[in-house]
Amino acid sequence: MNYRVAVLTLSDKGARGVRKDRSGPAVAELVCAAGFEVVYQKLLSDDLEAMQAELARLCDEHVCDLLLTTGGTGFSSRDVTPEATLAVAERQANGIAEAMRWHSLTITPRAMLSRGVSVLRKQTLIVNLPGSEKAVREHLSYLLPVLPHALGILTGRENECGGDGAQCAPAIEEAE
Ligand code: MTE
Repeated sequence: MNYRVAVLTLSDKGARGVRKDRSGPAVAELVCAAGFEVVYQKLLSDDLEAMQAELARLCDEHVCDLLLTTGGTGFSSRDVTPEATLAVAERQANGIAEAMRWHSLTITPRAMLSRGVSVLRKQTLIVNLPGSEKAVREHLSYLLPVLPHALGILTGRENECGGDGAQCAPAIEEAE
């Protein structure tokens, strides 16, 4: 399969070294276990312009097929990951964020507090995940099985949507 993944952690505390980044490594671990290749990992502060520039660069230089962000999707005034993501979007891919929120609401009503979005820029899919390691695991367990088909269509490696996706049953156990 060999799709390339970049992982961006957005956290002021992480960037200052006040909090250890657990969610970025959890994203990398889960995507590797699912057969993707992590080609880039970075921790950035919640700075809108820097984030926007990094998102655009990773897509425009075609560093990755999939760009997963973690953090900065909530209601605090510094949570601006969705705004940075929408600013670089060329096309919407709303279904992914909607589905992950719907799935997450079966786990916690606080899922409605994530403003995460999913978009396309050139040949890269960008998906926002919340900042906690628990939330990351819950989101990816649901999302990962569908990604090979999504990225296959996006990159032109696949052009058939014939299957019913039954083989896409979640493959990863969620954290307790
Ligand atoms: N989604 C899942 N699946 N599990 C969670 O524990 N936490 C929620 C929400 N989405 C959560 C979740 C909470 S408490 C918040 S505040 C928002 O994600 C935003 O998180 P962020 O600001 O770290 O991005």
